[in-house]
Amino acid sequence: MRILITGAAGFVGAYAIRQFAEKGYAVHAAVLPQEQLAVDLQALCTVHHFDLLDADAVCALLQTVQPDRILHLAAQSSVAVSWKKPQLTADLNIKGTVNLLEAARKLLHMPRILLIGSAEEYGRLPENADGLQLVNETMPLRPVNIYAATKAAAEQIAAVYYAAYDLPVICVRAFNHFGPGQREIFVVPDFCRQAAEIECGLREPVIRTGNLDAKRDFTDVRDIVRAYVLLLESGRAGEIYNVGSGKAAAISDILSQILSSCTVAIRHEIDPEKLRPAETSYLAADTGKLRCDTGWMPEIPTAQTISDTLAYWRQELKERSKV
Ligand code: GDD
Repeated sequence: MRILITGAAGFVGAYAIRQFAEKGYAVHAAVLPQEQLAVDLQALCTVHHFDLLDADAVCALLQTVQPDRILHLAAQSSVAVSWKKPQLTADLNIKGTVNLLEAARKLLHMPRILLIGSAEEYGRLPENADGLQLVNETMPLRPVNIYAATKAAAEQIAAVYYAAYDLPVICVRAFNHFGPGQREIFVVPDFCRQAAEIECGLREPVIRTGNLDAKRDFTDVRDIVRAYVLLLESGRAGEIYNVGSGKAAAISDILSQILSSCTVAIRHEIDPEKLRPAETSYLAADTGKLRCDTGWMPEIPTAQTISDTLAYWRQELKERSKV
């Protein structure tokens, strides 16, 4: 079974290459021309360089690989960056998805595709919601940021390809995920990196944060990728699945957990630059449909992932200081 993973050089891509290779898939990793995979990952897959915004190049890639499955991870995946780079976000997340779906439907044997969308698509909860409810896949989408709107658009385009061409696309709405290797534009690695720098004496003992009141549903990236494997195997084409833990944690709680694992006393301060023009206060997943169709359950506790992420940043700073 051949799988093509787009955006394979990203945070989730590394875990996906490992899990699909372990399952016996022939893994084809699509990365940008300037990107390189770590040597241990190169040994597990065939690497292809491509530009998602070049429709002909995407077609050529799919014709070469002839994949049975596609995991489409390539995207501009940061909400914060989408406020600063709206055009890039729209190009990659919408036009890039169209390029991929268009190329896929032209293959003689259409592959099963897992399209990675976001919990952010739900956005503002309905007025009558109590603010603590789990969102399920039937709830209306009310995106409140550019990233979320592009992901909702991509999902609707996928529904058109499924209805018009029978292209077997399965859509995911992924809730927050984290772990070792994630870039520090996201909240947990941002806090962990700052904490590790403080422990090394590289900055004053103050962590700068954005909005600590938001509540998000966090899952370990390894559990998330396990759900992607299961969905590509037994998810229903044309359907949408939430992937998350089903529990929301306040960002302030996540920060407290990080601070309590640190070897030095650290204060925190709000950095106005990190506050967003608008954001959803609460997101937590109803994952009944995913569990029913695949049997998936998260296995790795948040405390473990926080500890692994902090350990990753301590080690990373050590390595960087040697260079
Ligand atoms: N990045 C960041 N940095 N976020 C902070 C900070 C900070 O210093 N302080 C507070 N936050 C808050 C953000 O305002 C947001 O409410 C929450 O922490 C999580 O922010 P991010 O980690 O940047 O992720 P996100 O929720 O915007 O988006 C992530 O989750 C989505 C699914 O819910 C990404 O992984 C998306 O790709 C994903 O679709």
